[in-house]
Amino acid sequence: MLIEINGQKLHNFASNDYLGLSVHGDVKNAAIDAIKNEGFGSGASRLVSGDDPVFHAFESELAAWKGFEACLLVGSGMLANIGLLQALSDRSTEIFADKLNHASLVDGCRLSEAKVKRYPHLDYARLEKQLQQNVNDNTKPKRMIVSDGVFSMDGDGADITILMDLANRYDALLIVDDAHGTGTVGQDGKGLIAQAGLSGHARLIEVGTLGKAFGSYGAYVLGSAEMIHGLRQRMRTVIYSTAIPVSAIAAARTALDIIQTTDVVQQLQANVAYFLECSQHLQKMPSQTAIQPVLLGSDEAALNRAKYLRDSGFFVPAIRPPTVPEGTARLRITLSAQHTKTDIDGLVQALTL
Ligand SMILES: Cc1ncc(COP(=O)(O)O)c(C=O)c1O
Repeated sequence: MLIEINGQKLHNFASNDYLGLSVHGDVKNAAIDAIKNEGFGSGASRLVSGDDPVFHAFESELAAWKGFEACLLVGSGMLANIGLLQALSDRSTEIFADKLNHASLVDGCRLSEAKVKRYPHLDYARLEKQLQQNVNDNTKPKRMIVSDGVFSMDGDGADITILMDLANRYDALLIVDDAHGTGTVGQDGKGLIAQAGLSGHARLIEVGTLGKAFGSYGAYVLGSAEMIHGLRQRMRTVIYSTAIPVSAIAAARTALDIIQTTDVVQQLQANVAYFLECSQHLQKMPSQTAIQPVLLGSDEAALNRAKYLRDSGFFVPAIRPPTVPEGTARLRITLSAQHTKTDIDGLVQALTL
């Protein structure tokens, strides 16, 4: 899996194209055929003239695969989270959010007008304490718990079972963005929610993107038929934004078919297992997923190590604040089904020197 930067070909360990599907022949052909048949841009919002039967077909397929009643396609993950939190909140809403949530959820919270309480990363005892406050408030605020599934910069995962239990006990809606778990977690690649056996739960909304394991572009929101119907009418980032090009949806549909019918998810998981086995001596963060961060601390140390890797033929950029908290600069290694054992051996060797 190569990337060319300023004429230098590097092994790419920085892409979220976890299954290598952006370069799969069938995915590319699906996009090309769609462009030939339909043109490229969709020309308007779906609520005006940008809609196409392909959107509805893929929404049904994605909902069925993920085990939810309904699905709504949105322009991108950023737009999905901002639009979703805005649509579901008003000034009387309380949002409880993990401190390490992705920027799209952070911005969604900011723009939602809700009262936002952030709990320390994965600290569910603290989250429960926050939920207990005002529990007898007779104004009965609407509550939402909002979390990444697999966390984008750490690679660790939320405990969906605990979060769902808290949502049930404290009368809250649970929103999980499993952009990085989809296509990577679970034997079938359905992600953390399916793995926890909670797909389709009435209090649960799942968000994900098509720009990572699907190798395409766009995003989706999954929930009950009633919830998705309401969001279709109310999400400003759907109503007032141009529809995704049909070619991106055609590519994602083909990617879903490949995920369901080939062993591409197992190939990725075998690469993750191999990397974990070879890299035990490195100072890695505790992750079992395709995101394997190596903690370096200072920005300078991370930049120096990234440069060394680049000189050795590997592309792993340094991730620094504000993307991650101060003092936790790191190399965020991402693994793909496309990597070979030789690629992984080379990277581990370069990280060891
Ligand atoms: C957890 C999470 N949600 C949402 C997004 C944004 O998705 P998109 O790139 O489709 O806007 C990302 C992107 O990195 C992400 O990591």
